[in-house]
Amino acid sequence: MTEAGGSSPLVKLEAVNKHFGALHVLKDIDLSVARGEVVVVIGPSGGGKSTLCRTINRLETIDTGSITFDDQRLPEEGKALAKLRSEVGMVFQSFNLFSHKTIMENVTLGPIKVRGVSRQQAEQRGLELLERVGIASQAAKYPAQLSGGQQQRVAIARALAMDPKMILFDEPTSALDPEMVQEVLDVMIGLARDGMTMLVVTHEMGFARRAANRVVFMADGQIVEQGDPDEFFTTPRTDRARDFLSKILTH
Ligand SMILES: Nc1ncnc2c1ncn2[C@@H]1O[C@H](COP(=O)(O)OP(=O)(O)OP(=O)(O)O)[C@@H](O)[C@H]1O
Ligand SMILES: [Mg+2]
Repeated sequence: MTEAGGSSPLVKLEAVNKHFGALHVLKDIDLSVARGEVVVVIGPSGGGKSTLCRTINRLETIDTGSITFDDQRLPEEGKALAKLRSEVGMVFQSFNLFSHKTIMENVTLGPIKVRGVSRQQAEQRGLELLERVGIASQAAKYPAQLSGGQQQRVAIARALAMDPKMILFDEPTSALDPEMVQEVLDVMIGLARDGMTMLVVTHEMGFARRAANRVVFMADGQIVEQGDPDEFFTTPRTDRARDFLSKILTH
């Protein structure tokens, strides 16, 4: 199924619904992300942004609707699911590095264990990736010896080491001290420029304006509005978005 004028979307959610018990957290979500597109998801706490991200690599199952990735319905288990997880990288707020492994081991573990790459090859590529995120000199250290911003850049290098088709970012800078936010955003802006497909939950408007093709505003489990970043931030169309933006702009 190809769309008019180009290739099919990399990810397509159609009429996706998800409950946690009685709580309806995703309500009829329709969302496509094109190959090479950068989509920022923004919205109030509890609106379902993290859950949305997690459904795409099947860390959460859905109740109804369908999700396709690279033209295939998401696999439910087994090797196909492992393959999906290796193709969809994820970077979390809380870095999630292996604390008892060095930076280089963190970056090479996936390729060696999951992809069957030789240690030597994995380390060579690991070094290139650590250079790309500006921390090659830290390769022999352990996560606790690095700043938060450095650890998050390692997490990005680790995701890249699997050669993902897409990376999901869930508030990647919100646990960082303010002076470290930009170094992580700069790496992400670089990835966006290089054509990585990215779904980014963030309230960093500077990033959205510089790197996003589209902003999706989510509240109460629904996509309330979406559009061009500059238009969304300057002239939001819904009261819900206007109200939300006035709150994040004033603190
Ligand atoms: N595993 C779970 N079990 C039960 N309820 C959950 C679970 N995960 C999330 N929820 C609830 O689902 C709703 C959506 O949560 P989600 O984490 O997706 O929101 P969010 O938009 O990412 O919020 P935040 O901005 O605070 O990160 C919330 O009410 C949350 O409490
Ligand atoms: Mg969240």
